[in-house]
Amino acid sequence: MDFRLLNTPIDGLSKTACDALLIVVSGEPAERRLDAPLAALLADALACDDLVAKAGRTLYLHRPAGVKAARLVFAMAADGSAKAFKAAAMAGLAQIKPLGVKHLAVAAAGAVLDATHAEALVCAVSDAVYAYRHTKPSAPAAPPLAKVSLLCEKTAAKALQAGLSRGQGIAAGVTLARECGNRPANHCTPTFLAAEAKRLGKAHGFKIEVLDRKDCEKLGMGAFLCVAQGSYEPPKFIVLRYDGAAKGEAPVVLVGKGITFDTGGISIKPSGEMDEMKFDMGGAASVLGTFRALGELKPKVNVVGLIPSCDNMPSGRAVKPGDVVTSMSGQTIEVLNTDAEGRLILCDALTYAERFKPRAVVDIATLTGACVIALGHHRTGLFTADDALAETLLAAGTAGLDPAWRMPLDDEYEEALKSNFADMGNVGGRPGGAITAAMFLKKFTGKYRWAHLDIAGTAWKSGAAKGSTGRPVALLTHFVLSQAI
Ligand code: BES
Ligand code: MN
Ligand code: ZN
Repeated sequence: MDFRLLNTPIDGLSKTACDALLIVVSGEPAERRLDAPLAALLADALACDDLVAKAGRTLYLHRPAGVKAARLVFAMAADGSAKAFKAAAMAGLAQIKPLGVKHLAVAAAGAVLDATHAEALVCAVSDAVYAYRHTKPSAPAAPPLAKVSLLCEKTAAKALQAGLSRGQGIAAGVTLARECGNRPANHCTPTFLAAEAKRLGKAHGFKIEVLDRKDCEKLGMGAFLCVAQGSYEPPKFIVLRYDGAAKGEAPVVLVGKGITFDTGGISIKPSGEMDEMKFDMGGAASVLGTFRALGELKPKVNVVGLIPSCDNMPSGRAVKPGDVVTSMSGQTIEVLNTDAEGRLILCDALTYAERFKPRAVVDIATLTGACVIALGHHRTGLFTADDALAETLLAAGTAGLDPAWRMPLDDEYEEALKSNFADMGNVGGRPGGAITAAMFLKKFTGKYRWAHLDIAGTAWKSGAAKGSTGRPVALLTHFVLSQAI
């Protein structure tokens, strides 16, 4: 997709040459400053109630009088913010997508555009044209849309261009994360994720290392390997390195949960909706997606990605409830519930992260059903004892329209993880389940600044729109950019 800026005064929009013109409308009529033909069309549509001044409403007009574009869509936004602009643009794009539009021009009437609007537009378009096809040859062909122009006045051009570029990096990352997430577990195996990482490395110059079972045994990753032992699918521990800053600069480390299928293991899950546990590698996908964005945006920062990846299966050699394993940190863990496997694979990756002397470590995981109960599907759960890191991550989520919400992490919650047979148990009962999971991880993060993102509610959608969302690539990319020098 070709995204570009087109210098056009707002009072000259009706003369824009394009296949379709999408006008996002907000604010008071006096602030909209449309030229005469468009102002008349909008006023008339509102007067006769064909268009209602309510967020999300749209009106499609074919060959409207006095307008050069053959198709015109008005989309109403709640206000002038980037968030409202994106929501309205998405509603407008739904009208345009089924049409033969190759060149779309987008303008705002009533809002002052800045870089965040431009970024939001790119993400909205990319989202609208994405369709999963890999194992569905009958999926509808991609829409013919090839070029999107954002109409702006000259003074805003520089800021908006930066927003378009950032949006393109993020959108490429989100698309990659969605594509990995949507692939069924018999396609998206740990070996596939490792191959994807290598492919990314080749394309963008990242250093990639893939550790296999033997390598992990040598490192003493007893927690990771006990999850992997029930499956025929070989585990992979993937290490990605992006060196955008000087060698001595401490890197940001991103750790993504890469469970390519979570049956629950011996503590097996109920079968209803179990298919959705193919999305249990959403954390891993978001790390790959963020690296994809890094390859595009090339910020001056060092980033390491760590992806422990395996299946969680029941079998004759699977780990059993009550088994005690020794983690790479030396701490022992009583596996009270084999379905709490995410924390087991992450804890060894968090210990492995120490060797990079990181400036901060962020892990991303579809970790707990309890987080879905607490926050639903809108905000990702953020857990950290570090107030400054919390602020930075929350701000990154807000800026990327990929919001998070901070959850508590008081020492008192640790009590629940006590075990009579090991240094800790791997579950703490149902109360505060998302928090006790984070408390478990915290025990492996004493040597650096750390935050945990529980994306169980945000990484994918269920129901008719079932599919990966690519979250939180936007949050992570903004975070990593904020760490650049
Ligand atoms: N991958 C799941 C978490 C999950 C469940 C995400 C449902 C999204 C929807 C994780 O491995 C898991 O099974 N967690 C258990 C933990 C429990 C056994 C303490 C859970 O949430 O039920
Ligand atoms: Mn599980
Ligand atoms: Zn899981």
